[in-house]
Amino acid sequence: KTHKVTLIPGDGIGPEVSNAVVRILEASGVKFDWESYAAGAEAFEKYKEYIPKELYESIERNKVALKGPVTTPIGGGFSSINVTLRKKFELFANFRPIKNLPGLETRYPGVDLIIIRENTEGLYVGLEHEVVPGVVEALKIVTEKASTRIAKFAFEYARKHGRKKVHAIHKANIMKMSDGLFIRCSKNVSKDFPEITYGEHIVDNTCMQLVTNPYQYDVLLLENLYGDIVSDLCAAFVGGLGLVPGANLGHEAAIFEAVHGSAPDIAGKDIANPTALLQSAVLMLRHLDEEAAADRIQAAIEKVYTEKKTLTRDVHGTAGTTAFADAVIAAL
Ligand code: NAI
Ligand code: MG
Repeated sequence: KTHKVTLIPGDGIGPEVSNAVVRILEASGVKFDWESYAAGAEAFEKYKEYIPKELYESIERNKVALKGPVTTPIGGGFSSINVTLRKKFELFANFRPIKNLPGLETRYPGVDLIIIRENTEGLYVGLEHEVVPGVVEALKIVTEKASTRIAKFAFEYARKHGRKKVHAIHKANIMKMSDGLFIRCSKNVSKDFPEITYGEHIVDNTCMQLVTNPYQYDVLLLENLYGDIVSDLCAAFVGGLGLVPGANLGHEAAIFEAVHGSAPDIAGKDIANPTALLQSAVLMLRHLDEEAAADRIQAAIEKVYTEKKTLTRDVHGTAGTTAFADAVIAAL
């Protein structure tokens, strides 16, 4: 079977890591028919649109996309391509497994956390305006519908995968109504999952707790902004942003992308670590019911990390993006 998949190489390190991952996927023997599209500033030059109509149509048709990072301007400019795509296709769950790779030494061995981030609302709705000069208002939207939906996703995931605990992370002491609603919905959903321990922790304390002892958590359920921040913190447990994969999941479509951004500081130098996007592609293969190929690629990644000969700089190696990809292909 040939899988039609939309490919968004992205910008910054995006094209380098995407190219590496596509080569590895092709070497796995699974057949792909890629529909590749630019997004963001690059797309604007070509199509006068940040997200070309063709890209939307392609995702609508294929229902699966693999996406590299896309730069979002700070301050002014266009709104985030990532956020726009997540909203457009109702990709309400952002799923980010934080798991150590065998062979890669980190400060905390054997971390195995699941981050489930609400992906459609919170402060990410981008509703900001100037009330009067010098005063800006940003709206945080929290709905019962989206909070219940993401809580169900977290608990159902936990049940299906034998996870023992779900913690809802919040700041309901300050945002009494919005985060209050979020944890109320989480608690309600938790009642249908008596075998899973449910906890509620305040987000700042959670950061401290994580760094002190990451093993105390299992599944973390977070609203959008906290999920973004805590994901980067947790990435450091397993070797950094070069490693952590992600999936944006909804009922209509799924977009697989790494947690990291376009890393302009290292772009164009063939030094970025493609492992994060590669492990996102492994999640994609499982989504496409290509379990055997997913297992093979995961085993090849682990072999390369265990041998330690061809690792990128972020994980204290000296190899480039291309050489790392070649090593994974050789291990395959
Ligand atoms: P970043 O994640 O791009 O980089 C943070 C740090 O991690 C940098 O030092 C970078 O060199 C390093 N890093 C990231 N990925 C790496 C990799 N694969 N291998 C080795 N090192 C890696 O975050 P930053 O710099 O805050 O954001 C840059 C741009 O990316 C911004 O425009 C931001 O909006 C965008 N962004 C896009 C995302 C997406 O497309 N999903 C997600 C996050 C940020
Ligand atoms: Mg982020």
